[in-house]
Amino acid sequence: MNLAIVNIGELVTLRGPNRPRSGRDMSELQIILDATVQITNDRISYAGPSSRAPATADTADEFDAGGRVVLPGFVDAHTHLVWAGSRVDEFERRIRGETYEQIAASGGGIRSTMRATREASDMELLTFAHRRLDLAIRNGTTALEIKSGYGLSERAERKMLRVIGWLRDAGKVKIATTFLGAHAIPPEFDDNPDGYVDLLCNEMLPQIATEKLADFVDIFIERGAFTPIQATKYLMAAQKLGLKMRAHVDQLGRNHGAELAAGLGCTVLDHLEHTDAAGIKSIATKGVQPVLLPGSVYALGRTKYADGRAMIDAGLAVVLATDFNPGSSPTLAMPMVLSLACTHMRMSPAEAITAATFNAACCLGWNDEIGSIEEGKRADLVVHDCADHRELGYYFGQETARVVVAGGKVLYHRQ
Ligand code: NIG
Ligand code: FE
Repeated sequence: MNLAIVNIGELVTLRGPNRPRSGRDMSELQIILDATVQITNDRISYAGPSSRAPATADTADEFDAGGRVVLPGFVDAHTHLVWAGSRVDEFERRIRGETYEQIAASGGGIRSTMRATREASDMELLTFAHRRLDLAIRNGTTALEIKSGYGLSERAERKMLRVIGWLRDAGKVKIATTFLGAHAIPPEFDDNPDGYVDLLCNEMLPQIATEKLADFVDIFIERGAFTPIQATKYLMAAQKLGLKMRAHVDQLGRNHGAELAAGLGCTVLDHLEHTDAAGIKSIATKGVQPVLLPGSVYALGRTKYADGRAMIDAGLAVVLATDFNPGSSPTLAMPMVLSLACTHMRMSPAEAITAATFNAACCLGWNDEIGSIEEGKRADLVVHDCADHRELGYYFGQETARVVVAGGKVLYHRQ
C-alpha cells in the first residue's frame, strides 16, 4: 500500500451495475460514511468503512480528509483543449450585441482559432495544452476526451492529433482522442464545401482508421457548419470504416441532427439544447448517451439549456462535460458545470455527479477502469472541500478540489 486517505466523511463510490446508469439509477451514489480508501500502486486496494480497513502500512503516506467528501475524479468527456490564439475580442463583441453565429459568419469563431492553430508549432500547442490540463486537474478532473478540429486540413489536423497523443502518452491522466475534422468548412473550400466533405470521407477518415489516429470521430451538424446531407455522407463513410462516432447536434437550432446522428450509428450525442420532446423520445430508443454542455449555453449568454430532466426521465444515461473551447465555453471547471446542471436543467446533485463521473466513463468505454471508487479500479479520486456531496452543485464559482489523485499519484494538493 502506498497511500491511505482516512477520515472521509462521505465516500461517494458510485458502485453498482457496470453499465450506463439511467433513470433512478442515476441517483444511487452508494455513499459510505466514515470511510477509508487505500491505494496500492495505481489501483484502489480498499474502499470501505474505516472500522474494517486493514492497518495502514508503515511505508504508506496517510492523508486525513478531515471529514470531507471524496468522489471519483471527474471524467470530462467533451473538450477542445488544444488550440492557439485568443477569442477574448469576440467576448466583447457578444456583449455589445453580436451573436456567436454573426461573429462566425464574419470570419471569426472557429476559423479564427483555426488560423492561430495552423500557425502554432507543435511545442507551442503542447505548452498551452499542458497549462490547461493542469487547470482541469485543479478542478478535480482526472480523465478527459480531447478533440482536434481547429486544423481543418490534413496537415494541421494531424498536428493536433499528434499533440493530443503526446498529452495522453505523458500518462498524467487518461485521455481519449477524437477527430473533429468536420468542425467547420475551411476557407479553401468556401466555393466548394462538398469538396471538403469528399476530402474528409475519401482521405482523412480512412487515414484515421488505418493509422488508428483517434478513438472517435465527430462532426458539427448545424447551420453554418455541416448540413444533414453532408453529415449523412460523413457518418456513413465513418461507419463503413468501423469508427466510433459521435456528433455535435441541435446546439444553436433544431435541425433534427439528434435523430439523424443516432440513426446513423452515433453512440454519443453532444449538446442537444434544442432537441424537443419528440427528439428525446426518438433517441431514447437507440441507447445513445447524451453529453450535455451547459457551460456553452451560459457563456454565450443564452437561456435555452438542454432538457436534462426530460432526458433522464426518458431513460437516457446523461453525461455532463465542460465543452472547454475558446469560443463558446471557456471553462475547465466541472463543479461549475454541476451547478449549471442543477440550477438550469433540474438535475439533482446526485444525478449530476453520476453524469460527470460514471456515465461519462461509460460513454468513453472506460467504465471497467474508472468512474467509480471500487477495489481493483484505477485510483482516480478527489477530496473535495465540502462535508455533503450536494454542496458540489450548491456552491458555484469557487475551488472545491483539495487533493487530486490520478493513477495513484497525488497530482494536486491545496493546503
Ligand atoms: O462545442 N459546436 C461546435 N464547437 C464548439 C465551439 C467551437 C468554437 O467556437 O471554437 C462547441 O461549442
Ligand atoms: Fe464541442
